[in-house]
This record gives sequence, C-alpha cells and structure tokens, in this order.
Amino acid sequence: MNNQSQQSVHEFLRHLLSAAVNAALYGMGHPQVTHLTRLAASGIRNVLEDRQDFSLIALEDELIIDGTPQDLGLITGRFIQMLKSNGIGHIRILAGVTQPEIESLVASLSRQNKSTNEIASSENIRLGRVDIESDGREGQKINTTSTGRRFTLHDLPFRELEEFKEIYETVRQRKKLQLSGMAEMVSGFINVFQNEGSPLLVMAALRDVDEYTFTHSTNVCILNLAQAMALGIEGQQLNDIGVAALLHDIGKLFVPEEILIKQGKLSAAEFEIMQLHPVKGARYLLETPGVPRLAAINAFEHHMKFDFSGYPAVPADWQQNLCSQMTQISDFFDALRTRRPYREPMELPVIADIMYGMMGKELHPVLTRNFLLIINQLMEPQQATPPA
Ligand SMILES: [Fe+2]
Ligand SMILES: [Fe+2]
Repeated sequence: MNNQSQQSVHEFLRHLLSAAVNAALYGMGHPQVTHLTRLAASGIRNVLEDRQDFSLIALEDELIIDGTPQDLGLITGRFIQMLKSNGIGHIRILAGVTQPEIESLVASLSRQNKSTNEIASSENIRLGRVDIESDGREGQKINTTSTGRRFTLHDLPFRELEEFKEIYETVRQRKKLQLSGMAEMVSGFINVFQNEGSPLLVMAALRDVDEYTFTHSTNVCILNLAQAMALGIEGQQLNDIGVAALLHDIGKLFVPEEILIKQGKLSAAEFEIMQLHPVKGARYLLETPGVPRLAAINAFEHHMKFDFSGYPAVPADWQQNLCSQMTQISDFFDALRTRRPYREPMELPVIADIMYGMMGKELHPVLTRNFLLIINQLMEPQQATPPA
C-alpha cells in the first residue's frame, strides 16, 4: 500500500470508528453520527477508487490490511476492540458499496453485541467471524463447518489437479510457467471445503500422487486455504493465498536435482544453494506476467520465520506478509507429516506438541493457535491435545 492509499484507509477507519462510537452514545439519528457516517462513506469511496475491494483482518493486536500488518496509530487498538466486541474478525468491502450499507455497518459496530450474536453482511460488505468460543478451558475453540460426512474421491477437482501436475512438469522441464488452471484448481478446493470443512481429508485423498514437490505444494495450498477460511478471509484474497501457496517452492526448480533428492544430510555448501530457492522463486514469479504479486512475496518470505531466525536475511524493520506466515506453518506441518526417505511421518499429536512449543518464536502465535485448533478437530478425541 502506498502512502496515499494508507492515508485514505486511515481516514476511512477513523471516521467509521468515530461514527460507531457516537452512535453507541447518542443513537443512529444524531446529526453528528449522520455527519461522520457520510465522511466514512466518502472515505471508503476514495479507498476503492482504483481497486475492486478492501479487506481488513483483526488478529490479536494487529490490523492486517492487504495481508500486511498496518500501524494506524491510536485508532488501531480501539478499532480492533470494537470489532472483537462484535465477534467480527474480518471485513471485506466491495467497490459497489452504498451509503445505506455503511450506515448499517456503523449501526452493527455500535451495538457492541449486547443483544445478539448475529453479524449481518450485506451485498457489498462481508463480515467474517473468527469463530472463537470459550470451551471452558483456558484455550479457545474455532468452529469449522465439518458435516461429518467422509470425503469421497468424487468430490475432488481432479481435472484441475491433473492440470496442475502438468503445469509443474512443464515448469520443471522448460522452466516456463503457464498459469492456466491454477486459479480454477484453487476455486475447486475452496468449493470442496465450503461443503466439507475438513482439509486433512482432502490431503488424504492426494496421497497416491507421489511426486514430492507437487504433492507438497498442493498440501500447503489446502492447509493455507483452511487457515485463511477459518479467519474469515474470502474472495480474491483467498484465491491469491491459494495460488501463492501452490507456487511457494517454485524456486526449487532452480536447485540441482541431486541436492533436492539427496537422502542424507546436506553439506554446508549444498544447504547454501538450497537456501537460495526463496530468492530465485520470487525473482522468477516477479518476471512472469499474470502472477499475483502475493505469490512472489510469499515465495520470498516463506522460510523467514516469525522471529526472523530463518532465511533470507532482511532489514530489522521488515514486515512479513500474513500469507507467508501461514505458508510457513503449513509448510512445516506438511514436512513433518509426510514420509521421507530418512524418517517415518509423525503422528498429529506429536506435530501439534512441537508446533505449540514454537508459537511466538519461529511461528506466528495467533496463526499457529488457529492452525492447531483446525488440526485438533480432525484428530480422534482421545488423541486431541488442546492448545492452552
Ligand atoms: Fe521452501
Ligand atoms: Fe515448502
């Protein structure tokens, strides 16, 4: 986001917040509320002048806009608090938004959830709940929408999957990326999840595909989509997160095969070459027309780690994109649960314990909690280890 659009976003959120605070105090009919609501409505029109939608996620004490945490000064904390007291985790506003829709958004925000748990979306304003409910322990639980029905192979978007495999082969052989089919494959996964809500069941059905980097990329895509959907992310942003995940390791196609398939430990020199795959992948994606910018960012950042102890090294004030942090979690999980030449796949409770120990250090704490809650619901009850 450039300075000018950051300024417009700041203005819009400031007026929206003031309108809701005043509406809570004086009611919706008050002239001050009407005035501030109008300012908020013209503010969002400015924000949406050259884009299709505006999307915002509240994650603990961070406000994430366009996938990047934004520091909007004093209003950040107050805005997050207001969203949380209404059970809202995610807001997406589309370009056609009208003043009456902004008015009802102000009304919803000002209600502070005293009388109802309902959050009402409208045609151009989509409100997503980060479905957190207290389960009586110190931890929290995020609802997924599993219907309990077992997955069948018939449910999978197989045609797209085959296309993706072909894309991968093509890139490997000729090093030229064709994007067709990739977005469709991601939408196919999203449709399946909306009916099933159980990403691991989709992954189980993929086990017969044995090409490692292909299977791994597909799994990371599925896991990223599951994380993002549990946070209430939808629309283009969700699709871009999926496509970015599919392409996160594309830089490995520039690493010599003998290093990629080496069974033992890599030597220091080999590891150095391996560590170049994020930079090479990002450069390659930036040079390829039609690739979402997020894919290049994600490829570059997916090994950085939350505490920046990973690679590549970046300046101290670097802000890692939310998608890259999700990818790191999905990537780590998939590496441990997959059988490799040198070790058996780990059991889910063991992986959950390891990841729990990394929360707030190598892994983003809130995203890891979100992820473990998704995984937790898929484990047998006797195996479940609720994150505290
Ligand atoms: Fe990687
Ligand atoms: Fe990876």
